Amino acid sequence: MNLCIDEARLSRELEILGAISESPPPVTTRVLFTEADLRGREFVKQLCRDAGLTTREDAVGNTFARWLGKDPDLPAVGTGSHIDAIPNAGRYDGTVGVLGGLEAIRALARGNFRPRRSIELVIFTSEEPTRFGIGCLGSRLLSGLLEASAAEHLKDRSGTSLDQARLQAGFAGPLSGVRLRDGYYSAFVELHIEQGPILEARQIEIGVVTAIAAPASLRIWIEGEGGHAGAVLMPDRHDAFLAAAEIALGVESAARSTGAMDTVGTVGVCDVFPGAVNSIPNRVRIEADVRDIDQARRDDVLRKIAETCDQVATRRGVQIRIEPLNADPPAQCAPAVVDVLIQACDACGFRYMRMISRAYHDSLFISRIAPTAMLFIPCRSGFSHRPDEYASPEAIGQGTLVLAEALASLAGAA
Ligand code: GLV
Ligand code: MN
Ligand code: MN
Repeated sequence: MNLCIDEARLSRELEILGAISESPPPVTTRVLFTEADLRGREFVKQLCRDAGLTTREDAVGNTFARWLGKDPDLPAVGTGSHIDAIPNAGRYDGTVGVLGGLEAIRALARGNFRPRRSIELVIFTSEEPTRFGIGCLGSRLLSGLLEASAAEHLKDRSGTSLDQARLQAGFAGPLSGVRLRDGYYSAFVELHIEQGPILEARQIEIGVVTAIAAPASLRIWIEGEGGHAGAVLMPDRHDAFLAAAEIALGVESAARSTGAMDTVGTVGVCDVFPGAVNSIPNRVRIEADVRDIDQARRDDVLRKIAETCDQVATRRGVQIRIEPLNADPPAQCAPAVVDVLIQACDACGFRYMRMISRAYHDSLFISRIAPTAMLFIPCRSGFSHRPDEYASPEAIGQGTLVLAEALASLAGAA
């Protein structure tokens, strides 16, 4: 097929979306259901409508934009990603798969391709765990891996429940209706920046993802004893923050102890109460993220962290409660979709390599209900989740072209 990707337009759209942010450029911060998130959604929905797609939203704000196929009753081919961004992020994580997915559809339409199956772009709600502590909120609900009753009660740091937050943002209706019926998608492909350095270092245009690593996260509450920072003597203290610091180091050593490069552990959240320089911390909340491509090895790390918590609690005379937020299995991509992606790379004349995704993605959950695979494009120095995240217009254009070829092949010509 002779397809032409409008790289300049796509770059412009990514730039505009990147600037819809809670913090000034080059930083992008777009947390779930904030004003920036809602404006970002509006911007993308308008582009979808301009492209002639039919849009709908579900009760948690997952947004679907459909290009109707000749046989609209057949299961559709899905593509898409997320537009929420963690605090202090860049502008390409997720958005490349959303705006690239839209441009792939526009390129197919411009090339006079008419699909037999409908092609549907999805903007998933809250792939990032920032607000409610759990990532892939939208795709978990779509796939039925998160029960509506459990989702309703999720709370953000200010105590607002997901139910309150979504209603305030204008998303009503029962969460139980979000789940997609079996066979909704015949195939799903997510385009994303690699978020790692391999493709750039090897000068390979496309990564074809064959598996997605198994992520888990924990919230750990430490209850100690507060007091005056001057008056309470050191032997008499039960400092919740020092216990948290030991646990954080325990996360690091548990992850390192496997000896595998694929095991990683991070403590990225630490809230200290009351948070005054002259007050001994009496309560701390930390959140730890542990991942591996081997689920059993990851679960061993989780057990070691729990042991560390027990030891620290006894030694320091504090109370520690572990709240598991998620412990997801790894996903294998569908060989048939992987093959289609490889054929699309060949058709476009791009080099590709098979690779594993160490980051998680909505595809981790969509793979449970549809044959799914992912396309990665290189990003500068592998940087991601930071403001200097960057993918070149050319790399984005190449990924989009492969995606368009793949969507055409998966949807079939009318
Ligand atoms: C997704 O953003 C992840 O943390 O892997
Ligand atoms: Mn991310
Ligand atoms: Mn992402």
